[in-house]
Amino acid sequence: MRHPFKVVVVTGVPGVGKTTVIKILAELAAREGLKLKISNFGDYMLRAALESGLVKNRDEIRRLPLRSQLELQRIAAKSIVEEASKELGDGGILIVDTHALVKTPAGYWPGLPKHVLDELKPDSIVVIEASPEEVAARQARDKTRYRSDIGGVEGVARLMEAARAAGIASAVHYASTVAIIENREGRAEEAARRLLEVIKSL
Ligand code: AP5
Repeated sequence: MRHPFKVVVVTGVPGVGKTTVIKILAELAAREGLKLKISNFGDYMLRAALESGLVKNRDEIRRLPLRSQLELQRIAAKSIVEEASKELGDGGILIVDTHALVKTPAGYWPGLPKHVLDELKPDSIVVIEASPEEVAARQARDKTRYRSDIGGVEGVARLMEAARAAGIASAVHYASTVAIIENREGRAEEAARRLLEVIKSL
């Protein structure tokens, strides 16, 4: 049911601040001497997609035909665990930065379906949340990304509600805990500290 290392899957709607919170977590964990490996699921999918000439950037992945996304998802989950198994020992912690639900043109699509969970075997699934207004504002400020397909405040609110439910549904397969963490405006460090508490209690 578990890997020798602990696995914490961090989810949240695009732009909620997962990557930001995880970056602060890495600093806090280093100070406490915790061995962390951080893997961004999208990076692994993007690498495979670029190699196959399917996309030019990460925001195009969720608009690929579903069969292509499924194959990229399979490759990413497998590669993440293979790398972590080589790098982490019993005391290590794998943090996976990903999504419980992806908004695609074909509908909401699970980021953590059974085949992904069979690879990751998460100890915990963390859902990072903020108000839909805060998330939409962060998306708008972050000019490096294309996120307008998420649908503004209303789209974010709908996706966030469904993504929380998807996170809980995914937790059932491997008896993972579900921790919901607020990433309030200007308070990403607070969210990172709460995430550290979750990790230390696993
Ligand atoms: P992914 O790689 O997850 O995208 P990402 O780069 O991680 O970015 P996100 O859009 O999720 O944003 P974020 O929440 O990390 O926010 P950030 O910290 O940048 O996904 C790429 C693609 O890969 C997906 O679209 C999907 O197609 C695919 N994919 C991934 N996982 C998958 C899976 N399991 N299955 C299938 N497909 C999958 O922050 C955003 C902004 O907010 C920044 O400007 C930041 O400075 C600001 N900010 C953050 N926190 C705060 C705060 N507290 N106060 C003020 N500003 C803040």
